[in-house]
Amino acid sequence: MKRRKFITATGAVVAGSLFTHPASGMFLKSNNIKKKRLALVGTGIRGISFWGRRVLQEYGDIVEFVGLCDINPGRLEFGKEYIGAACPTFTNFEKMMKETKPEVVIVTTVDATHHEFIIKGLEMGADVITEKPMTTDEIKCNNILEAEKRTGHKVIVGFNYRYGPHPTKIKELLTNNRVGKITSVDFHWYLNVFHGASYFRRWHGIRDKSGTLLVHKSTHHFDLLNWWIDSDPVEVFAYGELEHYGKNNSFRSVKCRQCPFKEKCKFFWDITTNDVYMKLYVANEKHDGYIRDACLWRNEIDIYDKMAVQIRYANNVQVSYSLTTYSPYEGWRIAFNGFNGRLDSWQDIPWQKGVPGDIDQSDLHRKEMSQEEEQKATDYEVIMVMDNFGKYEAVKVPKVGGGHGGGDRRLQDQILRDPDMADPFKHAAGSRDGAMSILVGIAARKSIETGKPVKIEDLTGLIPQAKRIT
Ligand SMILES: NC(=O)c1ccc[n+]([C@@H]2O[C@H](COP(=O)([O-])OP(=O)(O)OC[C@H]3O[C@@H](n4cnc5c(N)ncnc54)[C@H](O)[C@@H]3O)[C@@H](O)[C@H]2O)c1
Repeated sequence: MKRRKFITATGAVVAGSLFTHPASGMFLKSNNIKKKRLALVGTGIRGISFWGRRVLQEYGDIVEFVGLCDINPGRLEFGKEYIGAACPTFTNFEKMMKETKPEVVIVTTVDATHHEFIIKGLEMGADVITEKPMTTDEIKCNNILEAEKRTGHKVIVGFNYRYGPHPTKIKELLTNNRVGKITSVDFHWYLNVFHGASYFRRWHGIRDKSGTLLVHKSTHHFDLLNWWIDSDPVEVFAYGELEHYGKNNSFRSVKCRQCPFKEKCKFFWDITTNDVYMKLYVANEKHDGYIRDACLWRNEIDIYDKMAVQIRYANNVQVSYSLTTYSPYEGWRIAFNGFNGRLDSWQDIPWQKGVPGDIDQSDLHRKEMSQEEEQKATDYEVIMVMDNFGKYEAVKVPKVGGGHGGGDRRLQDQILRDPDMADPFKHAAGSRDGAMSILVGIAARKSIETGKPVKIEDLTGLIPQAKRIT
């Protein structure tokens, strides 16, 4: 029987054993079949779609929203309608916590504010699920770790990338020691001119809000590295520059709507074609001035748009990582060098897919994020394994489209539906994993600023271990 069908058939029994997170022991077992009480703060697109509407649609038999919160009252009201929740809304988080007493708080606000709601949520008696990145600097990170210890409540970080079939197969091959002891890794991530540009259109382009893409975006990649290598990062050295977006263009405006350069700007983006974005963002600009289609040539942009990072791990693995934000195509490449061979893989590199240009770059990211469009596997990813003095073997992994390769669904299933599910590759991530991934980005940022290597142990109370603590 398929797991989803099994769950529906045994809903009450499953609900009775809800909420024990394998890694963190986040939720205590309960024989109470009452619905779990969730509150959500941050009714932007991620909050209302993945952690809102999808949660109610898929897990509405075992969870309920008791409160929604956002500083923007218009976005809050549209968000409630979009989610389909029947609960009160609040523009004040503490008031929501006091009046609704949720058991779990979901944090989907702007990155630099996550810590406020994680810490307050823990202190006011809830467990917390937070979107990545857990937070944006080492002081907030330490405060979160300290609050978790002090309150006895738990933090889960939503690392959906881990759960995809492709990253999971790489983890399985490495766990099985397929190419022997790993000594070094090359990891290069290419954001295309559509997806990469999107980060420069809004708050992500401001360092104080996103912590730069080394934290906001690379937290996914550093988490994958930490998980695959199964060790903690020790030292980081990095370079980074802003030389394409922001002040680097010869013309600029305020936003794409009403832009006098629409015709000549290759990055022009027409938000008016997206009905949900118009209702969620444009209709509510009047409340807080949040412009969703802001000009990506704004002078205020102060993050890097190309980044190169070297990382040394406690088990002596060395990593070369880079992030590009204006690539013609979206994709990534990785290679693990081991004593017995080498494991290579890649995703979405056009000519490695066959016909050059056969991927619609403008729609690739929307499809990846889409919760409605998780498609059946009709294609596959390849992991190439070659033995020293030997032959190569192509390991094929069925490719699922939408919902981050099916990773989004598996992440929520494990957290919300089936917390006791077998977890042989330790997909579940708590605050230590959340911390270790952002600390690489924070260290990289510091290294770029100082021109010096930065030690992870100098940032928080966490001591890097040769074998990750799970
Ligand atoms: N895991 C993933 O694949 C993934 C994908 C997209 C977004 N995210 C994460 O989800 C989060 C939200 O992203 P988004 O694209 O929805 O952003 P968004 O800007 O659309 O939404 C953020 C919301 O938070 C609200 N907010 C900001 N400060 C607040 C405060 N102090 N109190 C209450 N509300 C506040 C804003 O008004 C807005 O509605 C981010 O942390 C982002 O990194 C993760």
